[in-house]
Amino acid sequence: TRKYQPFRPIRLRDRRWPDHTITRPPVWMSTDLRDGNQALFEPMDVERKRALYDCLVDVGFREIEVGFPSASQADYDFVRHLIDSDAIPEGVWIEVLTQARPDLIKRTFEAVAGAPRVIVHVYNATSPVFREVVFRQSAEGVQTMAVEAARQIRGLAAERPETAWRFQYSPETFSTTEPEFALSVVDAVTAVWDASADAPVIINLPATVEMASPNVYADQIEWMHRHLARREGIVLSVHPHNDRGTGVAAAELALMAGADRVEGCLFGNGERTGNVDLVTLALNLYTQGVHPGLDFSRINDVLRTVEHCTEIPVHPRHPYVGDLVFTAFSGSHQDAIRKGFAVQPEDGLWSVPYLTIDPRDLGRSYESVIRVNSQSGKGGMAYLMEQAYGVTLPRRLQVEFSRVVQAHMDAGGGEVAAEALWEIFEREYLRL
Ligand code: KIV
Ligand code: ZN
Repeated sequence: TRKYQPFRPIRLRDRRWPDHTITRPPVWMSTDLRDGNQALFEPMDVERKRALYDCLVDVGFREIEVGFPSASQADYDFVRHLIDSDAIPEGVWIEVLTQARPDLIKRTFEAVAGAPRVIVHVYNATSPVFREVVFRQSAEGVQTMAVEAARQIRGLAAERPETAWRFQYSPETFSTTEPEFALSVVDAVTAVWDASADAPVIINLPATVEMASPNVYADQIEWMHRHLARREGIVLSVHPHNDRGTGVAAAELALMAGADRVEGCLFGNGERTGNVDLVTLALNLYTQGVHPGLDFSRINDVLRTVEHCTEIPVHPRHPYVGDLVFTAFSGSHQDAIRKGFAVQPEDGLWSVPYLTIDPRDLGRSYESVIRVNSQSGKGGMAYLMEQAYGVTLPRRLQVEFSRVVQAHMDAGGGEVAAEALWEIFEREYLRL
């Protein structure tokens, strides 16, 4: 097997490519079951949430935000289901979100009673527009809200020593908050929790809505990293959303700027344009020679689970996982790739043109033509219909059509070529 190496800058006379690299993986936190779930047409039921939870555990997530139990009875029931069915393996921490309100915090602690390991994640928005328009509170009032919530959480946790607790605070809308004010709130909260290297707490700084280019977010993270009063007692976490399409870039730059931890979702599910895509982020690291500590060696299984649970198809050009990303149509690309596969470089380093990663590392294979077979998702079928016949299938129809094609393949096996696909489509939808 070939190996990957850290990105080596290429010298161009007196200019250099950026020489910053990420040298170790972050702590990963999946919020698929919370931020991801709250953004769905239909929130997941217990069966789907459980399937996705099991998948996240298998992939290797050790921190999983499983819901917002004080806001939703379904989330409350799911948290209870996990605890009552003993579904939290050694080393895994479930995380629950709560607003900084006394009644909601109390209900959150009821939801997690008896759990072995819990991260209590409390948040309140801190930006001027929230203070002035939504809360109608002064800055001091908003800070007090956070501090009182932190005190209440500390007290309730102390009453329940049978659970191992970690505390997390998020100044929601951090990236549009004045940095000095965000710092003041965070310092006050970490003082209440007595954050120290021996008992660290998580401070999560969200780009709740991605409003600026990724370097700006990274600058904000770096500023906090340099100014936090108890930096050694803090796991500094980022929570990028993807409104400008640069969530992954924002997370990468934030890690270079001092962050320790990243919150996001598989394939970038989440509110609006999504949370940062943890799969792309992890595999970007992998291709730079840093093992992410997450296992995507059977990425199609992960994809199928996520599509089943979210009912949202993943785009065929999605990095690393899309149906088309290891397919070359052009003859010259196919030729270069074939030559790359044929040689075994002496240093054993990956050197196949046009492919950033060996598809086999993800349990996939390189395809020189597009194929539709039992491994293909709806994206491949939709793409083939579009390319070969100029027919664009709406999303819902893609889902339905892929089921029809799957049934056809189950009956007959093998691949379905473009012509056969068209015949099925015609038979199902065009003949009266
Ligand atoms: O995007 C956001 O700010 C959030 C917080 C609740 C962490 O999801
Ligand atoms: Zn979010």
